[in-house]
Amino acid sequence: MNMELWTEKYRPPTLGGIIGQESIIESLTKFVETNNVPHCLFAGPPGTSKTTAAMALARDLFGDTFGRNFMELNASDERGIDVVRNQIKTFARTVPAGDAPFKILVLDEADHLTSDAQHALRRTMESYAASCRMILICNYSSRIIPPIQSRCAIFRFPRLNNDAIGERVQFIAKKEKVALDATGKDAILYLAEGDMRFAINLLQAASSAGEKVTETVVYAIAGKANPKAIREMLDLASEGDYEASLENLRSLVYQQGVSPVDLARQMHRELLRMEISESQKMAILEKSAEVEFRIGEGASGEIQISALLAHMGLEQGQP
Ligand SMILES: Nc1ncnc2c1ncn2[C@@H]1O[C@H](COP(=O)(O)OP(=O)(O)OP(=O)(O)O)[C@@H](O)[C@H]1O
Ligand SMILES: [Mg+2]
Repeated sequence: MNMELWTEKYRPPTLGGIIGQESIIESLTKFVETNNVPHCLFAGPPGTSKTTAAMALARDLFGDTFGRNFMELNASDERGIDVVRNQIKTFARTVPAGDAPFKILVLDEADHLTSDAQHALRRTMESYAASCRMILICNYSSRIIPPIQSRCAIFRFPRLNNDAIGERVQFIAKKEKVALDATGKDAILYLAEGDMRFAINLLQAASSAGEKVTETVVYAIAGKANPKAIREMLDLASEGDYEASLENLRSLVYQQGVSPVDLARQMHRELLRMEISESQKMAILEKSAEVEFRIGEGASGEIQISALLAHMGLEQGQP
């Protein structure tokens, strides 16, 4: 069986192949055109093209000498000061190969570097800037010390929008000859929440059985509830049909195996979209936050969520 990950197989090799993130890609393309790249900091949530963009930038810039002028280190493997003293310095101080103006070092997951390592890095960034430019990648820029931030051009990668993810998922489905229907695609977009990697992995997992990828298949493989089922449960509770809403809850937990933590989070998401009065919504959201916290602390999911449903019924009729 071919176990190749589609996220790697379909990682765009060049800046031109990256979908979405237009303004960032525009700036990076200018760097390539002018043959000049400052030290950069890429920050943003998972699966939003940070590593892809860093590699594509270097590939576009170096062409044939990419292999000799580019190095990627993952700071979550080696987080201490030794990695800066040894690997980073050794790479940074040697002259670039071919006619490349400088080398590029990508430090992925740089927010995992210890504070000592980050302090050592700031000297290296300055001393060897002529021969090496760094691209630091992180999820949270607040974990990068200010002196490093001030040495970098900062790019914040937002979550990808549904158009970008939908386009890519459909492209891959076509290439891989996966039958993906509209409900399956919408389910992938709902669950991915702007994370391209998650969307592609979900498509690959959902298609592994060789069947048509529908919303039922996608929600089942992700172990999440169909938002329509959640919505129905919430509507029943707010209309005062408590028994029926409990039936739905039991079906989600016992028959579909959705975990209570996920259920509480999905309920929160649907509550935000319900058409009820602002004051009712606020009262229920407050309760829902409490329920989510208690479930996280180990309280029984079924008891907590049924209490929330009861609360919704009681709120009914309130101004
Ligand atoms: N804009 C994009 N266009 C097409 N594919 C993309 C795009 N962004 C991400 N991908 C796909 O998603 C995968 C994950 O993206 P990437 O590794 O760039 O995420 P990341 O932002 O570095 O996430 P993390 O913070 O988790 O490391 C890539 O291998 C690629 O297949
Ligand atoms: Mg990455």
